[in-house]
Amino acid sequence: MPPILPDALAAADKIAYLSRAGIFSGLGQGDLAKLADLAMPREYAGGEVVIHQGDFGDAIYFICRGGVDVFIRNREGAESVIGRLAEGDFFGEMALLTGAPRSASVRTSGDALLLWLDKKDFDVFLREHPEMALLFSRILAERITAANRLHERQIGREEQLKKLLFQEEEEHLTRLVGRTKQFQAVEKRVEELSGGAEPLVIVGPEGAAVEDVARLLHFRSPRSGRPFMVVDLGGGEEWRTYRARARGGQKDAEEEARLFEDYQVSTVFGHEGGAMRGTEASRLGCIELADGGTIVLKNVDRLAPGSRERLNIYLLEKKFYRLGGMGVLAADTRVIGTLTAPEGEENPAKVFRGRIPPILLRNRINLPPLSSRRRDIAVIAETYLEKHAALQGKEIKDISHQAVNTLVRYSWPGNDRELESVIERGVMVCEGDTLLAEHIFLGLTPYSEKGRANLLRLGPFRRAFANLRLRGLLQGAMVPALLAIIAVNLTGLAVRGVSVGTALFWYFMLPLLFLSFILLGRVYCSICPIHGLTRLLRLIGSGERPAPKVFGRIGVAGAAFFTIAFFWMEDAFLFRENPMRTAAFLIFLLVAAAAANFVFKQEVWCRFMCPMGYMSGTFACLAAVELRANNSVCSSQCKSALCFKGDGASPGCPMGLFPVSLTSNQNCKMCGTCVHNCPFNSIHLDLRWPGAEIWENREPALVTALTVPAMLGIVFPLLLHQNRHIGGGLAAYTLLFLAAPLALLGLFSLACLTGGRAEWPRQAAAFGFAYLPLAFAGHLACQFPYLLTGWRWLTGAPQAARYAAAGPRVLIVGVGLLWGAWAMRKLSPGRPRGALSAHGALMTAAGLGLLFLAAA
Ligand code: CMP
Repeated sequence: MPPILPDALAAADKIAYLSRAGIFSGLGQGDLAKLADLAMPREYAGGEVVIHQGDFGDAIYFICRGGVDVFIRNREGAESVIGRLAEGDFFGEMALLTGAPRSASVRTSGDALLLWLDKKDFDVFLREHPEMALLFSRILAERITAANRLHERQIGREEQLKKLLFQEEEEHLTRLVGRTKQFQAVEKRVEELSGGAEPLVIVGPEGAAVEDVARLLHFRSPRSGRPFMVVDLGGGEEWRTYRARARGGQKDAEEEARLFEDYQVSTVFGHEGGAMRGTEASRLGCIELADGGTIVLKNVDRLAPGSRERLNIYLLEKKFYRLGGMGVLAADTRVIGTLTAPEGEENPAKVFRGRIPPILLRNRINLPPLSSRRRDIAVIAETYLEKHAALQGKEIKDISHQAVNTLVRYSWPGNDRELESVIERGVMVCEGDTLLAEHIFLGLTPYSEKGRANLLRLGPFRRAFANLRLRGLLQGAMVPALLAIIAVNLTGLAVRGVSVGTALFWYFMLPLLFLSFILLGRVYCSICPIHGLTRLLRLIGSGERPAPKVFGRIGVAGAAFFTIAFFWMEDAFLFRENPMRTAAFLIFLLVAAAAANFVFKQEVWCRFMCPMGYMSGTFACLAAVELRANNSVCSSQCKSALCFKGDGASPGCPMGLFPVSLTSNQNCKMCGTCVHNCPFNSIHLDLRWPGAEIWENREPALVTALTVPAMLGIVFPLLLHQNRHIGGGLAAYTLLFLAAPLALLGLFSLACLTGGRAEWPRQAAAFGFAYLPLAFAGHLACQFPYLLTGWRWLTGAPQAARYAAAGPRVLIVGVGLLWGAWAMRKLSPGRPRGALSAHGALMTAAGLGLLFLAAA
């Protein structure tokens, strides 16, 4: 420990040292003597840490002899020197002036002599010399700006970032990208306004690049060498922390409003020590800190009345005073406000009149929504690609045409911010040198817990759900189970006059599977025996071919076709009455599935071909459970995407899905792999209202939606077949099996036309799913009599009239119809009346038709 030199340093020496500090050059001898009296000397050995990053600030230090290194540590613990200070310099002022923890650590580079001034004495000194506060704040602002930039550099991997940051800064400083007329109008306004110092507002829709435009204005202006600061007046994390500390449990709205106003005033104009509840320290506001530069006040319409008044005065006179301060201070900081425009509002500034200082509204830049300048999307995406590829250290140089098409077709409700996060996620999961359509995950709505209960909060359940070994065991057990069913069918074994194979598969397994779709979503798929077989096959080699492109194009249409064919075959060839055919059919399914999954990666059979997969995926949209990621956790904490990619120790998502982009149960097998892989507990398994997805999914899949009326259509021939009302043999049945789904699909398409041609795809995507409850109920009604037959067989009850279950069938279809009507009602806000009436009529007609057949 170096010796403290209490009086060893004569007052004259202290004065001499202090007067060497540039910052005190304007102070008179008397003031210097006073300061010297308060300052304490201390000697340090080389390499000693004087200040630790993150500590509370208790003193300011002046360097009399020697030098110091200012350094910060990044997340990985690596150290990086951000500044070197020498004799005549000072440090430790930031924490004292801002009230924040120490921004960096400071270490002596050799033996050094420092003079330190206690925080309390420093406060008194500043109060007596307000002009010094401004000098300190100028230096502080420069250091903050430099430190911010450097700190950003530390966040990721050092080497990769070094190159990037300089590029990124230049990028940010010199250009916005776009070609459209709307974009050029923005460029022109920026050009016009960047020369001056007048205040202005930038108005844009949610997620628009308002901050980038403000940044550009600053860096193109003569102020570019001075500080640029962004402050959110909406009250973020900092406000919440302050509120919690200052309010101390009280819940008085007026009190809260007062606190919020104090908080805003202090953020923008600063406060004197003791003026803010819950904090003793004084603080400089951003107007002072950014003197000579620019501040951006985000959400400037959220100004409390008192802070609005102060800002108004500042904008008119360039004068202000701190909260609790008496002295009038001056600064020359340019103020840019930003506002989020209400959707569809032509003149957004009108809406905000009275809520923000009028002088801000005199100059305005309006940013158009991304959807109105689709031609810009590709170039903006390229810029983000460049930025995030560099940030993540990847060599991705291109975006494929298909990916660009996907981006251009999307509606971008979250504008530039949404586009950037889509590209950032794409880069995260892309392993090659081109960003492909399969890397683009759209429609990420912020995760909301409303109407949801996360089952994974139950510890034992979570552990079982995320236990991949347990799932492997279940999958393994399913292979012999299915082989046993096939074997029993092959032997033709019969008990009490019924084939055991038929009973096991057609009377129990299939009807129970239908029930599982609605209760458990697509869970069956995760233990389907096909996995077991595929895994066995992969022991001898693995298929790494990507899925043929055509599958991507037709989506689930192929699987829907196979499903309809499957239903047709089982009735046309009387599988239930012929165990040999059942066995042959099951063997064919198993071999085809295992072969497809063996040759291609990412389970091509399950996603695009399997009738079970199609039914479970489509009906799972009605399920009472859903697996979703909390995307705010993912975007703020995750950089590895293990949920999707997996690592050496555990596989990634078997369906090639990114949980954060899930808006539907359709392709998620709820296998638990992502829950197992996610280190942040971001994945939820939520209970929800059955069918909630029909009205909550903002981007329903068009192809799947179109298959729903077809699936509803085939319920008619299925019920007729059960009722034995079809004459004319195989040809007539086949014809009916073709005609019914096509007729329903045709009528559905016509009903979608009532909203206008241009609206057809949107109407079809949304309304198709509204028919899902009725389609599901229809199929369940068809399965129910088989289940009943099986139950009677099992319990030895007499097989009264075969498949006679009119009562339960009517009940099931009736519930399906009401459920469909409810879904239609939830979907109705904002949709054309004509379309609603047409779909309402069609669904009612189909429902009544099914009720009639079910009752027969
Ligand atoms: P404080 O945050 O109180 O503690 C760490 C000190 O390091 C800080 O005050 C400044 O005095 C100093 N500091 C931080 N960033 C820089 C920088 N970029 N250049 C020089 N000094 C700095």
